[in-house]
Amino acid sequence: MTVSHKPSGTKEYPLRILHLEDSAADHQLVVRALKKGMEPFHIQRVETLQSFRDAVEQQAVDVILADYRLAGFTALDAWETLSKSRATSRPPFILLSGAIGEAAAVSAIHLGMSDFLSKDELEKLWRVVHRSLEMSRTMASEAKANAELALSERRLAEFADHLQTTIENERASIAREIHDDIGGSLAAVKLDLAWLQRHVDDPKICPHIESAGEMLQHALGASQRIMMNLRPAILDQGLHAALQWLAQSFEKRTGIKTSLCTNNEFVSPERAIQLVAYRTTQEALTNISKYAECSAVRIEISDAEGVLTIDVSDNGKGFSADDLGKSGSFGIRGLKERAKSVGGWLDVSSQTGRGSAIILSVPLTHTKQMPDEDQFQ
Ligand SMILES: Nc1ncnc2c1ncn2[C@@H]1O[C@H](COP(=O)(O)OP(=O)(O)OP(=O)(O)O)[C@@H](O)[C@H]1O
Ligand SMILES: [Mg+2]
Repeated sequence: MTVSHKPSGTKEYPLRILHLEDSAADHQLVVRALKKGMEPFHIQRVETLQSFRDAVEQQAVDVILADYRLAGFTALDAWETLSKSRATSRPPFILLSGAIGEAAAVSAIHLGMSDFLSKDELEKLWRVVHRSLEMSRTMASEAKANAELALSERRLAEFADHLQTTIENERASIAREIHDDIGGSLAAVKLDLAWLQRHVDDPKICPHIESAGEMLQHALGASQRIMMNLRPAILDQGLHAALQWLAQSFEKRTGIKTSLCTNNEFVSPERAIQLVAYRTTQEALTNISKYAECSAVRIEISDAEGVLTIDVSDNGKGFSADDLGKSGSFGIRGLKERAKSVGGWLDVSSQTGRGSAIILSVPLTHTKQMPDEDQFQ
């Protein structure tokens, strides 16, 4: 049964109300109460669960009013039917019933129903309907905003991942060119210099050959170092060896005592995770050399309990949460995205004056192949 009511002078689209009620007399009371408001509405009464399901699936409904106890079922069954239905929207669901007890009313609200109104208080019906509609609109726009935020966060993470892969590929290709072009030419010059050294014994020329040899050695060392930073070939010997190399060169360069410890049975993880672990340690050490003003650094690696953990800590001046949010500072933010790209996460812990720790954790079940896996020395 349906009733439409459009008071003269109203232009608004009528509110579409679905009324689940098995008493025709109670339905009439509701219609009368609604007509007292000056708003247009269209109300349809349904009595069974099946007709309720059909109504919510087949037509647009703005609000549902439901009696609590009906013939053979309750409003809770109707609520479940609505939750499982193919209805595209979830309109506010208001319990409109005789006395059902406070506990039942509270548990109905906990389930997610919008409101409860006693049949003795029908003069408040419009107020309750408006309040429920308002709440439902607010919740819908919140859900939409959250979904948009989640989508944009996912896109950002995908973009960061893509960017990191591109950077690593680019680094690998520059390193390969340095190796093939510059490295190849320097090796040829070295052979020629060695030949000259063997065949020339003019005291005026020999010192020049010697100093050219020294410069050449310097250039070879520099190109090795640049290649190592661009694409850490040492990772081919495993993560432990690579981090040991990082720690030793850091100590040599800065004079800061650097220790590395690991659990006994440490096994190198797959390449993508190794690279994230390596770059994380590299950035943590770079930050330490730039800001920490410390006397000791400790690097701990562990793969106990199926989780790779790299903990880089220093005893320096520490930093605050504000430091991490500085505009133009992307190191630690980038590391967080990198950690996520291999299914892990990054914890940063520090207090001003009490050192700092950067901890990378990656569960070792996640697998991802780096696109560029080729080897070079
Ligand atoms: N070990 C540390 N000791 C003291 N302060 C630190 C340490 N590591 C980071 N910081 C502080 O945290 C800030 C953020 O570091 P982050 O690596 O994110 O960016 P950045 O080093 O400033 O810039 P970028 O890494 O992008 O070149 C630093 O500017 C510094 O103030
Ligand atoms: Mg940095």
